[in-house]
Amino acid sequence: MRGEREKVREHYDGVAEIYDRRYGGEVGDRYHGHIRDHVMRCLPKGGDLLDLGCGTGLFMAHYMAEGGRAVGLDLSPEMVRAARLANGMEHVVAGTADRLPFQEASFDAVSSILAFSYVPNPDVMLREIHRVLRPGGRVAICTLGHNLFTAALPLVYRLGERVHWRRIGVGDFGEHYYTGKEMEELFASAGFVDVRVNRCSFAHVNLSKPFFDLARRAEPFVERRCPYLAFNVCASGTKQK
Ligand SMILES: C[S@@+](CC[C@H](N)C(=O)[O-])C[C@H]1O[C@@H](n2cnc3c(N)ncnc32)[C@H](O)[C@@H]1O
Repeated sequence: MRGEREKVREHYDGVAEIYDRRYGGEVGDRYHGHIRDHVMRCLPKGGDLLDLGCGTGLFMAHYMAEGGRAVGLDLSPEMVRAARLANGMEHVVAGTADRLPFQEASFDAVSSILAFSYVPNPDVMLREIHRVLRPGGRVAICTLGHNLFTAALPLVYRLGERVHWRRIGVGDFGEHYYTGKEMEELFASAGFVDVRVNRCSFAHVNLSKPFFDLARRAEPFVERRCPYLAFNVCASGTKQK
């Protein structure tokens, strides 16, 4: 039987070509842009960034537009290819986020957007991030949170797989959706300090446009007052000097 990692890789190889259509359209870009801004606010600008699970390089491009330099790593060779060819990212490698081919203290910032839920050993990934960060460097990870909506996803995805529903992110990959507390504990046990956890993105790209627009308007209120309803959780922390 194929391992989960192989399944995730094959899935993203298969959707690499259509990925930017989903997150580059009007709704997709507003959803992804909200997450990008959130992650960007947690990181130092203008330094050396490593983006893990970089996909087609959407966050790398954003970080570079703000004056930084970016290196990306992704499990899917086809996503790496799209980052290089479609989005002109020069420094992108294929690999897995829990075994980083970089020397210690190489980066000022590490980001990971919508990829952490796939990694089977998050503690190892966080220790690797800690190793490659320079002292004083900061990591920000935005991932699907454990909440009312995501509780039903494993079942939906299992059914989706049976009917060959081929859509970005849809598949039975044994993903883990995190609570804020779990993120906090994982960051702390990997040695990070000044750990902060927020919820991010109540409006989700899977909603039809009228519902997305409605949810987008309610987003600031939901994220402030009922954070457990937001889809994503965003955690950040610093490697001590
Ligand atoms: C939903 S996409 C997000 C891509 C990008 N971060 C973005 O925001 O557009 C998830 C990405 O995580 C990658 N991924 C999944 N497991 C991974 C792992 N163990 N190591 C590195 N990348 C991984 C997938 O190949 C895919 O490109």
